[in-house]
This record gives sequence, structure tokens and C-alpha cells, in this order.
Amino acid sequence: MDNRIHIFDTTLRDGEQVPGCRLNTKDKLLIAEELESLGVDIIEAGFPISSPGDFESVAEIAKIVKNATVCGLTRAVQKDIEVAAEALKHAKFPRIHTGIGTSDQHVFTKIKTTREDILVRSKQAVRWAKKYVDDVEFYAEDAGRTENAFLAQVVEAVIAEGATVVNIPDTTGYCLPEEYGAKIKYLKENVKGIEKAIISTHCHNDLGLATANSIAGVQNGARQIECTINGIGERAGNTALEEVVMIMRKHNWMKAETGVVSKRLNAISKLVSEKMRMPVQPNKAIVGSNAFSHSSGIHQDGVIKNRDNYEIIDPAEVGVNESSIILTARSGRAALNYRLENLGAKLSKDELEVIYQDFLKVADQHSVVEDEQLKELMSAHQAIDA
Ligand code: KIV
Ligand code: ZN
Repeated sequence: MDNRIHIFDTTLRDGEQVPGCRLNTKDKLLIAEELESLGVDIIEAGFPISSPGDFESVAEIAKIVKNATVCGLTRAVQKDIEVAAEALKHAKFPRIHTGIGTSDQHVFTKIKTTREDILVRSKQAVRWAKKYVDDVEFYAEDAGRTENAFLAQVVEAVIAEGATVVNIPDTTGYCLPEEYGAKIKYLKENVKGIEKAIISTHCHNDLGLATANSIAGVQNGARQIECTINGIGERAGNTALEEVVMIMRKHNWMKAETGVVSKRLNAISKLVSEKMRMPVQPNKAIVGSNAFSHSSGIHQDGVIKNRDNYEIIDPAEVGVNESSIILTARSGRAALNYRLENLGAKLSKDELEVIYQDFLKVADQHSVVEDEQLKELMSAHQAIDA
């Protein structure tokens, strides 16, 4: 079994669909360069027909990216595909990502057509795209809510037309992990020719399950994950790249490997957050400011004794210098002593006890006690200093 999982980053396309988060070409180029250094396999650079600005960004990214595949999104529309091919013409490894809705909801209510017509349009789109590039990815929009038998029919048809990757998006973030995993398994078992294509996950986070669903997809045979830095994207966002990468690193039993240089995760998270003007929630897994901070007494004592007591990731592995011991009114003597030692103090048990009682009074009035306040506490205890 091939255990290499391709990381398809769509920060610049699906991620950029966040309201109020438009990036200019310069910012997109900077992010694309960082994504390439991060080691992603595919960069979805944009939706070329959507605007002249997006076309320009995709075209410029296609010129500078040398190692990753550069991908452009289209609808199953000939003009979209022609424009995407034009934008990608300088890419070393170009990919056209085309597709159409396949769920009954999309077929009957959005596109207002029939399943037969969807099959025809899907095959046609791949045929058009194949005229320009070898690497054609097909997305079955709202696959999460598409009946498996019809989904299999569409997937089989587009592979027969030469699709190299078949994307199974849970567009509305509806599926449960078991259900999404079973969908991938069903396709593996029921689509003729499935071994000729890579199955891709593309999960949205409306129920907070995007990461779990992507991993369930991999456990059932998907070999590409579509994701964004910090999980940004439409509504509740997309699968967070940093989460799936670190899950696969930590759970070695999955034997799944990516080409991502995890030490670069923290820096790229900050860059994307700054350029998109989207703060990262402090408790965000892997890249949140509290992801490696310990503030309760019991946890602090445990971490000071041995980091593995409460940390499953070495912060250096994701580019964070070190974990931090935050002093609050819930902190204990061990944490206070640890922080005072970092400031150069060496205290006896009795001396620590005296300072600890004063520390608690300060901590009750402030959410966090900083180094400056610790220094003031120390100088208020000259006797101890002496
Ligand atoms: O969520 C989705 O279905 C998409 C497709 C356009 C790939 O973003
Ligand atoms: Zn999406």
C-alpha cells in the first residue's frame, strides 16, 4: 500500500473565500513561496475565471513555483477550463481542478437538471481539461450528501475520461467520520478503474469534524487531503493543514507520510493570519498561542517534572521555541519557582512560601502575572534577595 499522503493546500482558493479576506497578488505570491518551502504537494492558487486579479495571481504563482503542482479551479464549463489552462500555462506541474454538484440537493435544486445530465457534463469537463493538461482533478461537489451508488457512477466515468485525482468533498461539513470513511471505502470497492486515480478528501468544518473526516478518509484509502493553513475557509472553514499533518506524524501506526516540514508550521500560520487579517483562536490545535502553554497548578507541576506528562508534541517540532508556564491564580509553587529560577532567583522552601502568598494576592487581581510583576515581588522581599 502506498502510504504517501499528498497535501493539497487550498488556502489561496477555498481559504481566501472567507468574507473580507481578499489578498493581493503580492501577498499570494509570498504565501505560495512559503507553502512550497513548507513542502505541500499541490498549491491551489485560485479560480482563474472568477476575476482578473485571481487570474493574474494564478499565472504569477504558476511562474515561480518549481517543486509543487499548481492548480486552478473551474466549474464544468468550457470557458472556465480554457481560462484556467491559460493561467497555468507557465506552471512546471499544472493541474486543472474541475467539477460539478452531484448530490440530489445540488442536482435538482441548485443546477435544476437530471443525474444523466450531470454524468454527461462531468465527462465533458474532464475531456476539455485533458486537452490542456495531463493532470486533471475532478470534484463531485457535495459528495458528502451524494448517494454512494450515483457518486460511484460519476467517479468511474471521470476516471475513464482520464481524471488523475477524484475529489470527494464534504462541501457542507455534514458527514460523520464513520460515514465519510465508509464513502471512501465504498468507492475503493465499487469503482472500476479506481486504482488509476488518487482519491482526495476535501472536508468542511460546519460540525467541527473536518479534520476527523479527512483522517477517516485516509484510513479508508484516500491519498490526498485538501486543507488550509489555520483551517480558514468558507463558513466554519476547511480541514486545518497543521492538524492533519501532525495527526499523521503522531499516530505512526497509520504509516501515513507527508512531505511537510513541520518546523515551518508556526511561521506560516502567523503569516497567513496576518495577511488575511484573521486572528488564530488561542486554543487552536498546533498553532494557537495557548497550544503549548500550561496554566493550572497540577499541569504545570507535571510538565516541570517531565514534559511528556502533559505534552504530546515537542513544541520545536512545529516551530515553537518552547512551551510556556503561564502564571495565574491557579498556578502552584512549582510553577512560581520555575519562573523565578528563570529570572535568576534561588529560593529556599520557606522563602518560596513567603513569596507565593504575595504572588497569590497579585494573581487574584490580574489574569496573568508577568515577569515584571515577579521582579517587583522579588524586590519587595529584599531580605530574601540578601
Ligand atoms: O467544498 C467544495 O465542494 C469545494 C469544491 C469546489 C472543490 O470547494
Ligand atoms: Zn470547499
